[in-house]
Amino acid sequence: MGERPYVIDQMISAKAIAARIEELCDDIRNEFADTEKLVVVGLLRGSFVFIADLVRELDMSVEVDFIEASSYGDAMESSREVRILKDLRGAIEGRDVLVVEDIVDTGHTLHHVINLLKSREPAKLRSIALLDKPTRREVDFRADWIGFEIPDEFVVGYGIDFAQRNRNLPYIGKVRFTNDA
Ligand code: IMP
Ligand code: MG
Repeated sequence: MGERPYVIDQMISAKAIAARIEELCDDIRNEFADTEKLVVVGLLRGSFVFIADLVRELDMSVEVDFIEASSYGDAMESSREVRILKDLRGAIEGRDVLVVEDIVDTGHTLHHVINLLKSREPAKLRSIALLDKPTRREVDFRADWIGFEIPDEFVVGYGIDFAQRNRNLPYIGKVRFTNDA
C-alpha cells in the first residue's frame, strides 16, 4: 500500500484555508465572548497546523493542550475502537473548552473524545473540524464548526498525513494513485 505510486492534486488552497479560518474565528470569538481563558484542545497529530493558525487568528486568551487518540496507523481505513494514547495535561472541569480536529470521517474519533471530555464536566464544550466527509459517517455526530465539507476522497496536507507523509504541505490535496489497473 505505502509503495503504490501516487500524486497529490490540490483541493483547497492555503489562501482559501486562511480565509475560512478568519470567518470561523469570528463565530468562535462570539461564542466564547464571556470566557476568561479558553482551553483549546488539539487532537494529535493531524490538528497541529490547524490549531496553530486558529489560536493566532482567535486573538483571545487561550491555553493550549493536546490529546491523542489511536488512529488509522498507516492504513487508509478507520478503526471503530478508539483508545486514548495521550491524555490532557490539564483539568477541564468548569472550564470552557474548544476541541480542534483535522477531519471527521466515520465520526468515531471525535465522538469518543467529546464524550470522554464531557464526563469531566467542562462548563462549555464545543468542537471544530477543518474538514468533514459527511457521506462516510457511521455515528450520529457533527462538529459545531466545520471548515469545509469534502467528498469521500483521501486527503493530505495542512497537518494531515498519508502513512506519516505530506503533513507539511501548505494546502489540502487529494491522493490519486497512478497505477490503477
Ligand atoms: P474517524 O474516526 O473515522 O472520524 O477518523 C478521523 C481520523 O481519521 C482523523 O482524525 C484523521 O486522522 C483520519 N482521517 C480521516 N480521513 C482522512 C483522510 O482523508 N486523510 C488522512 N487521514 C484521515
Ligand atoms: Mg486524526
